Amino acid sequence: MDKKNPKILIVGPDRTLQREVESALAAIEDINPVTIYAPDFRQGIESARNRRPEMALVEMGRDNRYLRMFVEEVGAASPETAIAAVFHPSTFSEHASESEVVIEALRLGVQDFLRRPISSKDLEQFLQRTFKYAVGRQSQQGIIATFFSNKGGVGKSTLAVNVACALGKTAPGRVLLVDGSLQMGVCANLLDMTPRTSIMDAVRERDRLDETLVRELSVLHEPSGVHLLAAPADAVEASKVDDELMSRVLTLARRAFDYVVVDTFPMLDSVMMAVLDLADRRFLVTESVVPTLRGALRLLKTLDDVRIPSEGRRIVLNRYSTFDGNLRPDDVAKRIGSAVEHVVPYQKKLLVAANLGTPYIFSAGVASDFRRAIGKIVEDIQGARTGSRSSGARSTKEVNA
Ligand SMILES: Nc1ncnc2c1ncn2[C@@H]1O[C@H](COP(=O)(O)OP(=O)(O)O)[C@@H](O)[C@H]1O
Ligand SMILES: [Mg+2]
Repeated sequence: MDKKNPKILIVGPDRTLQREVESALAAIEDINPVTIYAPDFRQGIESARNRRPEMALVEMGRDNRYLRMFVEEVGAASPETAIAAVFHPSTFSEHASESEVVIEALRLGVQDFLRRPISSKDLEQFLQRTFKYAVGRQSQQGIIATFFSNKGGVGKSTLAVNVACALGKTAPGRVLLVDGSLQMGVCANLLDMTPRTSIMDAVRERDRLDETLVRELSVLHEPSGVHLLAAPADAVEASKVDDELMSRVLTLARRAFDYVVVDTFPMLDSVMMAVLDLADRRFLVTESVVPTLRGALRLLKTLDDVRIPSEGRRIVLNRYSTFDGNLRPDDVAKRIGSAVEHVVPYQKKLLVAANLGTPYIFSAGVASDFRRAIGKIVEDIQGARTGSRSSGARSTKEVNA
């Protein structure tokens, strides 16, 4: 839920409703919403499914049959969307009293009502009610954490796998590792698994994808209690996974699991944006190597440009060692203009662990620096369950729209 940049779906046969909503929104302070317009219920359902708006404002007619279908379909495809029915008092005067219509719509599952012309005050109150309601609902959803960078070889996959396994110990069966490094997934290898299903099956089953299916497509890694949704075996096929599919998989996954850890490919494409968009914790993995840090600084700027909020973002300095002349976390922070929240030490045994397919976290000593660093990241992720949530950034598409 992004209170500053909520996505608002507007469904109505003509664009005057959109203009009305937009001018009412313009008068509300401190928000910068993204509006999505759909001329009819069918397209409205499609947009709700793909864009998962925080709220939908739906023009109500005299016949509630389509509204019923809309409420049901959106409830299934995007349950986090709050639906308000919008009506013109004059529509009903001769046919039914306003209260009858309102009661009927409430029975259908509409959460709120707005009279046209829509006033800023009414709309603002609706936004506030929605946010308040969403806080309760969101706390039941799983947390999404991702490890990302614009550079390969910095340790994204290593961290994603080890963190997922450490989380799995605290919540067996309730952690999903998604190998979003689609072009070159290594998570299965790092866990010594050869899963028969992958995210490609989600592409094939696109139309009947739900949370049960996401669970079925993932494979349990018994030693850790983590489920893995593997990357496609074939890099050409992998290009069929688009941002829409990734958003759907993650939104469904967070309903079926307490924690969803996403490994990524080092490229800021629309799939990565979809992941960043939904993640509660975004761990930018970097190293104390000047060219890598320059890249990280550029990436941070880009993220600001596309308005991925800095809240929930963490800098992880990986493969750190204190040999003379190495940049310290403080130096790194200065160079990239952002605090370094996590430092993961260099650990040469990670290489052996990778070759064996046994995550190092299993053999790391209880008091080892590596285990401690992973433990701190785990706590940071767990903190998102109770503490500050930060999901709902905007995707590039919306920014450009
Ligand atoms: N903290 C670390 N200490 C030592 N080696 C590491 C560390 N983190 C990652 N590595 C090694 O670096 C290599 C690249 O890591 P990987 O996780 O595959 O990076 P990425 O997913 O960013 O491409 C691997 O060989 C891995 O074992
Ligand atoms: Mg990787």
